[in-house]
Amino acid sequence: MNTFPQIPTPFYIVYEDKLERNLRLLRHVADSAGVKIIMAFKANALWKTFPVIAKYFTASTASSLNEMQLSLDYLGKDVHAYCPVYTDATFPKFLAGCSHITFNSLAQFHKFSGQIKEWNQAHPDSPVSPGLRVNPHCSVIETDIYNPCVPGSRFGEGPEALREGLPEGIEGLHFHALCESDSHDLEKVLEAFKNQYGHLLPHIKWLNMGGGHLMTRKGYDIDHLIGLLKDLKAQYPNLEIIMEPGSAFTWQTGDLVTEVLDVVEDAGIRTGIIDASFACHMPDCLEMPYKPSIAEALPDDSSEGIPFRLGGNSCLSGDFVGDWKFAQPLQAGQRLTLQDMNHYTTVKTNMFNGVQHPSIWFKPKDGEPLLLREYTYEDYRDRMD
Ligand SMILES: Cc1ncc(COP(=O)(O)O)c(C=O)c1O
Repeated sequence: MNTFPQIPTPFYIVYEDKLERNLRLLRHVADSAGVKIIMAFKANALWKTFPVIAKYFTASTASSLNEMQLSLDYLGKDVHAYCPVYTDATFPKFLAGCSHITFNSLAQFHKFSGQIKEWNQAHPDSPVSPGLRVNPHCSVIETDIYNPCVPGSRFGEGPEALREGLPEGIEGLHFHALCESDSHDLEKVLEAFKNQYGHLLPHIKWLNMGGGHLMTRKGYDIDHLIGLLKDLKAQYPNLEIIMEPGSAFTWQTGDLVTEVLDVVEDAGIRTGIIDASFACHMPDCLEMPYKPSIAEALPDDSSEGIPFRLGGNSCLSGDFVGDWKFAQPLQAGQRLTLQDMNHYTTVKTNMFNGVQHPSIWFKPKDGEPLLLREYTYEDYRDRMD
């Protein structure tokens, strides 16, 4: 494993070849199935890597004005918005920057439908297509925090309000019910969606099936997905089918390289304290919870090896994950590569406790790593300005 000894730890590194491998696969799905794939910013906003992405995809989905602006500045002008709530202050800006706007509730649609009509009359060359998010009430995700269909969910209208049809003006429907899911989960959700909302499909122009399609995970059945999408298109030739994955774009495209600073032991548990933090720099590890692979560790199912926890360099007691097994005891000064640390990682970091934020590097296919960003005391100070 190349731990890039010339770069000071801690640092994230994103690999161009791995990113391109994902992009090629996503492009293959979009072209073979005749669907539109747009990138969800929530999983990845490293805009200095967007020139690589833009060779394959330039449309995106934004759920805030900041995400929208990042697309307009660095990726492309075709931005679809979905935001749980638009306000009087934000809505005119979304109107001016987006091609599609999905509302989370009928109340939100009614509040702003007049403004959309006016916009479309005044801007016939850049009309905005309004849509409505619905809840397919089909739970295929086991972790509640990632399940938009959990009872009591705040996401999307239910079928009762739409029995008699859609209000005039709504041109598309949107559902999002997947997370790191496969095509068979999509099939289940699609079935549930059609059972509740199928009567609306002949009357709309587009259907956005949200994110969570982890097409770039090893073993994902791409041919089954393409077949499913083609069948849907054959059944509803009036519909443009849109998918908005985030993770699938940057799945397994980057690592976090850290150094062990000290090794401590209590109650028979040995912990290597690293120069990064799970709470600050890998928050999903605690939230999900999720244990990343470490290139230098033994396989999880290994019967050999010495178990170690890894602890973060913050004062939060729970800032640790483990155990991993190592062939040799961990030693201060050794580097560890925590793998798959790009999607939902670089976008979610924070500066709690003032722990040094890892720098961010990009490894081009041919050539030496390039520094994208490093963080200083001023970054920590100025967030509190
Ligand atoms: C509405 C919506 N679209 C797309 C996504 C992207 O999902 P993923 O990154 O799992 O593909 C999310 C993730 O939460 C979402 O909430």
